Amino acid sequence: MPETDDPLERKVMVMRIEPFQLERWMTKYEMNVKWDIAESGIFPMSTRELLDLLPPDERAGILDRLLDLRLGYSEACGSAELRGLIAATYDRTLPDEILVTTGAIEANFLLLNELLEAGDRIVIVDPAYQQLQSVARAIGCDVAPWKLRPENGFRFDLDDLRSLATPGTRMIAINTPHNPTGAMLSEHELREIYALAESLDAWVLSDEAYRWLDLAGSDPLAPPLRNLGPRAICTGTFSKPFGLPGLRIGWVAAPAEVVQRCWGLRDYISLSPGKLNDELAVLAFRHRDQIVARTQRIVAQNLPVAERWFAENDDIVSWTPPRGGILALMKYELDMPSHELANRLAEEYSVMLAPGAAFGFEGYLRIGIGNTPEIFAQGLRQTAKCFRNLMASGVPLRSRELVSASV
Ligand SMILES: Cc1ncc(COP(=O)(O)O)c(C=O)c1O
Repeated sequence: MPETDDPLERKVMVMRIEPFQLERWMTKYEMNVKWDIAESGIFPMSTRELLDLLPPDERAGILDRLLDLRLGYSEACGSAELRGLIAATYDRTLPDEILVTTGAIEANFLLLNELLEAGDRIVIVDPAYQQLQSVARAIGCDVAPWKLRPENGFRFDLDDLRSLATPGTRMIAINTPHNPTGAMLSEHELREIYALAESLDAWVLSDEAYRWLDLAGSDPLAPPLRNLGPRAICTGTFSKPFGLPGLRIGWVAAPAEVVQRCWGLRDYISLSPGKLNDELAVLAFRHRDQIVARTQRIVAQNLPVAERWFAENDDIVSWTPPRGGILALMKYELDMPSHELANRLAEEYSVMLAPGAAFGFEGYLRIGIGNTPEIFAQGLRQTAKCFRNLMASGVPLRSRELVSASV
């Protein structure tokens, strides 16, 4: 292939990348356990539930339309209708500044590959959805982790960020609300991060997979980072707030030139979104308020159940409740590695809680509060049973000092 400066003609890189620990672990159990309380999404909607959001006369018309839809290739960058709907959720953003992707995971992948080169410095929130760090490392970047610490209640510390984002930094990658801690950046903090990036001539990639997942009684979500200016890029998805991960529809919201470059790379990966999925995503977006209300009903039932459970079992577990989104880290006092404990929970108690070690947090499990209230409550009961049985069988409790030292 001839050498070229045109980003659209650049060759796709062949990457050597480390295994995605959490995904590898989840796929082992997620289809088999009865009580999955590790999931990072809301209990998924069915196509029928989606259609039932429509008034009966409209429903019949839309159902016919879906049944008659020719399953050809769809518009490669996402249908104009879907891009228009997504664009309208950002300030001053046109449909050309949106690329519909195969989930937020593809959106992140394209952006990291297009905007970073080997040797570039990138500051990435840590712990993180592993993709952000692993892809940057595979590209050969100098990855500086911006750590969230349990002793600080998993708050983002902007002074730490200022010392990490040294001159020459090419990108700051954040995720708010945050997987796996439930931490959240305020509008003021986002403005500070954007100003810092602008002063360095760096990009800010804000993974907003958990957008629209405000929690009752917590601070409202900040407006998307994209609203702040041309160095701000957001990724989003139908997977989490809409409970539609099976659509595999996400997006990039970025300046048109960045969207073009990502699209050029995507030609080699997934080409275009599924046609039916794009249609269903439009339908879901048109009923976003109802779907988000469903999501919030589920979370509003599960959160107090979780709080009660943590209070009842405070000799062995504790947590910092999520400020936004649906995820948190559960600290446990049993002296057992998190992978071993998570495997036992799954194999012997049919419960899924994700091992904290997959995020670099030994002595923790990740919990998700998005499954049905029945599954969630039973999952917690099973977890307590497992912990109590392990204690009765002689597994010691570790000292609190040891747990924080190992983080
Ligand atoms: C922070 C974050 N970003 C991106 C993704 C990928 O989501 P999807 O590809 O389903 O949109 C996830 C999934 O768990 C996530 O937690």
